[in-house]
Amino acid sequence: MKNNMLKKYALLGIIALLLVSVLAGCNSTSKNETVKENDQRPIMIQGPMPIEAEKFAQKLENVKEEKSGDFVFYIGTLDDYPVIVAKTGKGMENTAAATAVAIEKYNPVAIINQGTSGGHDPNLNVFDIVLGKRTTNLGALKTGDKGENEGIDPTTWKPMDLMASEGSAGEDPDAEKARFYEGDKELLTAANAVKDKYSKGKIVEGTIGSADVWNNEVDRIKWFHTKFGTSVEEMEGAAAAQIAKAYDVPFLGIRVLSNNKVNGGQYNPDTATACQEYVYEVVKQYISAKPSE
Ligand code: 5AD
Repeated sequence: MKNNMLKKYALLGIIALLLVSVLAGCNSTSKNETVKENDQRPIMIQGPMPIEAEKFAQKLENVKEEKSGDFVFYIGTLDDYPVIVAKTGKGMENTAAATAVAIEKYNPVAIINQGTSGGHDPNLNVFDIVLGKRTTNLGALKTGDKGENEGIDPTTWKPMDLMASEGSAGEDPDAEKARFYEGDKELLTAANAVKDKYSKGKIVEGTIGSADVWNNEVDRIKWFHTKFGTSVEEMEGAAAAQIAKAYDVPFLGIRVLSNNKVNGGQYNPDTATACQEYVYEVVKQYISAKPSE
């Protein structure tokens, strides 16, 4: 009887010891995982031209520069949080490639594509800023069906959704619509929260249209404004948004008007600096509101 009791206690003791060591083991793995989770993913700020990226890069601390092709990445910190400024070069192709390279190399937690733009909305003036609630590709179009000597008719061209299907877009009626890339909610919240820090113009939510085209025909601009609801046009946002979407990375376009053909707003390159100063405040706000991982 006594022997049996002793055996029981010994067994219980062994089980307790085993439990303690298993728990200790769990603890150490969870610690390792926490370390991994604490490797903060950087926020990426893109600017096409030197005047649209370098001002922000100068504001970073502990900066180290890396290059891939023509793309320059300024890797630093802001308020002790990792931030990378990418000078992508102009246009859709540069931007798409720079975005994919950056996502593969640096695994950003969010991407802001910012810079100058031309107004499509007559109520927006040079120095006003548009937060891209939506961003769309104005160059993805399918023309009408016309034979030789039947001319060209751009206002009948239909938008094409480049992400609609993997099959032939030519035969897929689902692809005959514009694709709007939604601006990330948390980035938009951060951007709206610091609106008051910008005094050079107003800040509105709107639609950013992109293509490798600079439109100076007012009727064509009006057509985009009516058909796509565009507030501004530029040459990069939709390319970055498309790649960010492909990798499921939160994205926001932020564009200052440097010119506005529809209301006579003359080009002013100083807007590029103003935009970076505002985006700097947005990033600070985003970092401070971010729950630590
Ligand atoms: N149309 C097209 N792109 C513009 N940009 C500024 N204004 C316009 C405009 N009205 C920006 C583009 C590109 C460079 C030519 O300037 O995004 O980077």
